[in-house]
Amino acid sequence: MSKNQLLEFFEELDESDMEEMPASQNRIFQKRESKKQETDAKLFIRAQEISREFKFTYKAARFEEAWLLDSLVEIAEHKWISDVLRKVKGGKEASVYLCKSGVAVDAPLVAAKIYRPRMLRNLKNDQQYRVGREDLDENGNIIVDDGALHAMQKRTVYGEEVRHRSWIAYEFTTLEILHAAGADVPKPYAMEKNAILMGYVGDLSSAAPALNSINLALDEAGLIYERVVHNIDLMLTHGRIHGDLSAYNILYWNGDITLIDFPQVVLPDSNPASWTIFLRDVTRICQYFSTQGVQCDARKLAVDLWTSHGHKIIKEVDPKYLDAEKPEDRKAWAKVRSEK
Ligand SMILES: Nc1ncnc2c1ncn2[C@@H]1O[C@H](COP(=O)(O)OP(=O)(O)OP(=O)(O)O)[C@@H](O)[C@H]1O
Ligand SMILES: [Mg+2]
Repeated sequence: MSKNQLLEFFEELDESDMEEMPASQNRIFQKRESKKQETDAKLFIRAQEISREFKFTYKAARFEEAWLLDSLVEIAEHKWISDVLRKVKGGKEASVYLCKSGVAVDAPLVAAKIYRPRMLRNLKNDQQYRVGREDLDENGNIIVDDGALHAMQKRTVYGEEVRHRSWIAYEFTTLEILHAAGADVPKPYAMEKNAILMGYVGDLSSAAPALNSINLALDEAGLIYERVVHNIDLMLTHGRIHGDLSAYNILYWNGDITLIDFPQVVLPDSNPASWTIFLRDVTRICQYFSTQGVQCDARKLAVDLWTSHGHKIIKEVDPKYLDAEKPEDRKAWAKVRSEK
């Protein structure tokens, strides 16, 4: 496949996102994109080389293959996976694939979540989650390098890449922390620049459904509800708020639950909107369980959990004060904290 075809691919991949963007923003992106496309062309050529060595069962669409190969080659080289069997779900920000494990994994099947190259474009309000979170590098360590921090602030191509990796690193390190703590989350195996590999929930023929798509018997609903609350509590113990918790991000399989999808995780002590985000998570959970017949007072539950971990109910903060990059926003946030 030629370089031009590759460029066509990335345009195709991002077309839907561009349509949603205002014209001025669109122009900035296009400028940045043309630079990126050079890199993308190299990526594609590399993917072609890789494909000679690493072949998989899943028949990917024309361009998806280059992306998959590039994202998974190191994971395959390290024997975390030996084959890609099928796509579990394709989303706007990431796609999840069912893979056959390699010898380095202690389970027969694993899930690879691969983030879209332009994923950040879709994170409409990612600032809200990033406040109070140090950015992480591809190994999950806090970035202290001034060059990288400056690039992120300036939103250069490199800066966007660093931001993208930090987002993925938060998902992975959160899985590590919560899995070690005994929470119901997939076991994390590996993180590469664009992908994370984790325990797969389901079997060969179907992946576990999310809670939102199933109805529970009343007694089971009560038990599952208690289990979810236990997990929320455990997350607070380990300084984490899911940030996008709902019945859509909880898988159900053989009576067990698995919480997934953590890139936007929020740190309760340092994010000015942490209480608001926490309350929203708990409210969504209660909304689902009340449809299953479980009596649930969202506000009371949220207040009880929050205060039992020593957190105060923080005055809600106007989202305009949520830009981590702006000193005046940091100042405004410090003021709110001092008033609480
Ligand atoms: N470990 C897993 N085992 C089985 N299926 C999984 C696993 N992780 C994710 N999935 C499936 O992939 C879907 C998308 O995963 P996830 O929620 O992490 O990504 P996302 O980009 O936020 O997608 P969405 O926007 O659909 O929520 C899940 O809804 C679930 O169906
Ligand atoms: Mg999700």
